[in-house]
Amino acid sequence: MAETKGLFVTFEGIDFSGKTTQISLLRDRLLEAGLDVLVVREPGGTAISEKIRTILLDRDHDALSERAEIFLYSAARAQIVDEQIVPALQQGKVILCDRYFDSTTAYQGYGRGLDLTIVDTINSFATNGLEPDITFLLDIAPEMAARRRVAQGAAPDRMELQAGAFHQRVREGYLQISRKHSHRFRVLDAARATQDLAAEIWETIRQTIPPSQQ
Ligand code: TMP
Repeated sequence: MAETKGLFVTFEGIDFSGKTTQISLLRDRLLEAGLDVLVVREPGGTAISEKIRTILLDRDHDALSERAEIFLYSAARAQIVDEQIVPALQQGKVILCDRYFDSTTAYQGYGRGLDLTIVDTINSFATNGLEPDITFLLDIAPEMAARRRVAQGAAPDRMELQAGAFHQRVREGYLQISRKHSHRFRVLDAARATQDLAAEIWETIRQTIPPSQQ
């Protein structure tokens, strides 16, 4: 694994848990503090990975096999790790990544039921073993997330069309992953007010950056 000097922060949770809002608020705080920030999302974030994202989220692709699905998510990840994340970390940037390999463990492992040992091997190969420094899990009940989607009038993509039981397994999977990797996970109740969550996230990050830059 390449030597890195930046900070790698990932955000996880089921859809409509509020990750994107929190990433945007944290990015603003970091920029105010004068830090160099890169915000990326998965799957996506590079021209090649965005094309793979289109295949993955296309509602017409209900024939996509579970094995093809995990390789596509992992292919998109390998590309963004090499093209964006590792170079940015080497330049000392703070990377805020909307989803990373814990999504694959939660969705393809716990959600689809693929063998967790194989999922770990694929995750590790796709990322050259690059783990996040900090992972925020925005934990929310699938029913509340679904109400948020309806309130926002958003059309569901291929993954969001999965049954409620699937999203329940994903949520529980995330909680298990967070217990297994408690050194890097911070689990937050995503039903809390946006600004409260933002304050707690900032406090965690603030403790990891030098006082001169706060
Ligand atoms: P997004 O809507 O948060 O950008 O994510 C796209 C969807 O893909 C979301 O429903 C979660 C799912 N997903 C997986 O199933 N496995 C993965 O490895 C990733 C990164 C996302």
